[in-house]
Amino acid sequence: MNPVIEMKHVKKAYDQNTIIEDLNVSIDPGEFVTIVGSSGCGKTTFLKMINGLILPTAGDIFVNGKNLKDVDLIQLRRNIGYVIQGSVLFPHMTVRENIAYVPTLWNKKNKQATKDAVQKWMDIVGLDPSMMDRYPHELSGGQQQRVGIARALAASPDILLMDEPFGAVDAITRSQLQNEIKRIHQQTGITILFVTHDIEEALVLGTKVMVMDHGEIVQFDRPQELMDHPTNDFVVSLVNHHPY
Ligand SMILES: Nc1ncnc2c1ncn2[C@@H]1O[C@H](COP(=O)(O)OP(=O)(O)O)[C@@H](O)[C@H]1O
Ligand SMILES: [Mg+2]
Repeated sequence: MNPVIEMKHVKKAYDQNTIIEDLNVSIDPGEFVTIVGSSGCGKTTFLKMINGLILPTAGDIFVNGKNLKDVDLIQLRRNIGYVIQGSVLFPHMTVRENIAYVPTLWNKKNKQATKDAVQKWMDIVGLDPSMMDRYPHELSGGQQQRVGIARALAASPDILLMDEPFGAVDAITRSQLQNEIKRIHQQTGITILFVTHDIEEALVLGTKVMVMDHGEIVQFDRPQELMDHPTNDFVVSLVNHHPY
């Protein structure tokens, strides 16, 4: 199986400050990779290098086998969904218009196809059709987050990057959204990279868990393997905070 994402000797420095020294990783298609690590260790930087929002200082990044140095980054981002914490919806557009944003660009002559897509994705993320004509400020945090996910998925990406997507919602909504995203992953087979600071969330959602510390990947394994065979004290301390 060819990896969907590959990093080879990736280095990232902000001015003189090296955040990532030498990162090497390979991610297979269809994995749900959860990424955990302390604040400031480079998780967001790692994620943003995959969709070209941040460029590496050195090294190579391949997405679907193509070196990002050789691809049009705008084109690349059309194929990579990106969901972050809090509302990043277009405030002056309704739920329908937000979700329809990308499908409308494609289906210029087929309005029904866009309509169908909006309905389908609202259904998948668990949004009631009555929300369709509301504006973002008329929704709860959890509902806004669902619209954000639906909007990202409606563009039919093969990769979904999620940066602490459920960080700002209450515990009940959070556990509902966790179930939704797990189901979406199973239904679509999309590759997901999901940053969280919550080890429990990482172990529950991930088919693989990536533990980062100071810009290094200290372990990248199946959740069970991580719990049974943590590679160093940092992973041990993470896993020991896990309540079960
Ligand atoms: N644009 C930037 N300029 C300078 N330093 C940055 C910039 N973005 C992030 N950093 C620094 O890089 C480190 C990693 O940041 P980040 O990837 O956001 O970490 P995380 O998401 O794991 O909390 C932090 O020390 C942060 O302060
Ligand atoms: Mg971050």
